[in-house]
Amino acid sequence: MAEKIAVTGCAGFIGSHLTERLLAEGMEVVGIDNFSAGCMANLEKASENENFSLIEGDILSEEDLEELLDSVATVYHLAANPDVRLGADDTSVHLNQNIMGTYNLLEMMRKKNVKRISFTSTSTVYGEASEIPTPEDYGPLVPISLYGASKLACEALISSYCHTFDMSALLFRFANVVGLRSNHGVIPDFISKLEKDNSTLEILGAPPGTLKSYCHINDCIDAMISAEKVSTERVGIYNIGSEDVIDVKTIADIVCEGMNLTKVKYAWSGGVDGGRGWIGDVRRMQLSISKLVSTGWKPSMSSVDSIRTAVKELLEERSAQA
Ligand SMILES: NC(=O)c1ccc[n+]([C@@H]2O[C@H](COP(=O)([O-])OP(=O)(O)OC[C@H]3O[C@@H](n4cnc5c(N)ncnc54)[C@H](O)[C@@H]3O)[C@@H](O)[C@H]2O)c1
Repeated sequence: MAEKIAVTGCAGFIGSHLTERLLAEGMEVVGIDNFSAGCMANLEKASENENFSLIEGDILSEEDLEELLDSVATVYHLAANPDVRLGADDTSVHLNQNIMGTYNLLEMMRKKNVKRISFTSTSTVYGEASEIPTPEDYGPLVPISLYGASKLACEALISSYCHTFDMSALLFRFANVVGLRSNHGVIPDFISKLEKDNSTLEILGAPPGTLKSYCHINDCIDAMISAEKVSTERVGIYNIGSEDVIDVKTIADIVCEGMNLTKVKYAWSGGVDGGRGWIGDVRRMQLSISKLVSTGWKPSMSSVDSIRTAVKELLEERSAQA
């Protein structure tokens, strides 16, 4: 019988790709999503597979979690509010959705005797790291956003549950993930703005913008599956990203090129605190991926290629929906 895996946030960008991949690997997948950000269209392919079942529910509901964790071996926990900008305006969202959601899930895992969890964390747990590329054992971890703080709190909860209740975990610290179905972040933001006004593009921050690493969704999913196969640690921490960085102006150039726009004027907002895009925005982010690379995984794309591919995919997706 196929191993049964639970995926929280299965209708979201990364969750839907992961669900498809787990099904393709022959697993039985039960997903949960409250559709606050995800959508049924993302699950079109997964829904055709008889090994997939969906709970339209919330990880803040004990009843929904009890149903989700029935006879599962492993949980991939992706459900969260991933909007870094939100924390400066509403301090409760990341606390409730991310920290309380993770706590509820761990409690139900403990009650239902589910022993393995893979968690999608983020580069923002490092804050403004002085070591770049930043390795997994960098410290101290000083997040500068409430989102980063919430994810670090989740990592701490997961680690302590593992040691207290004989569980094991993988903590994935992602760079920016881009690709088909992504509906938040810099590329969808630029495309939406240019669809409304193709003469001027408002860019948050000061030129040339922050310098960050981007990873294509296919590389990200490969990395997660690969780590799951090799990790033997009780709590394994893996950075996932690409091997280079790209600035925001270059991303804007690639989006304009993809949309065949040659005369767009860039209107930089000036940003906050000497050029950050928004409060809590890290100026430079590049993760050391050598730990996972040493086990055999390697990203197939650079940051520039990831952005180029994602722009093409998202524009094709939009024209198919039009
Ligand atoms: N996309 C990135 O670049 C990136 C980078 C670092 C980490 N992450 C993490 O990866 C995970 C997935 O991110 P994503 O980009 O796919 O975001 P997403 O918003 O597309 O997916 C999150 C999914 O979780 C669902 N959800 C949210 N709260 C829920 C709740 N209480 N109960 C049930 N479902 C709920 C949403 O409806 C959505 O479908 C998140 O944990 C995010 O923090 C993403």
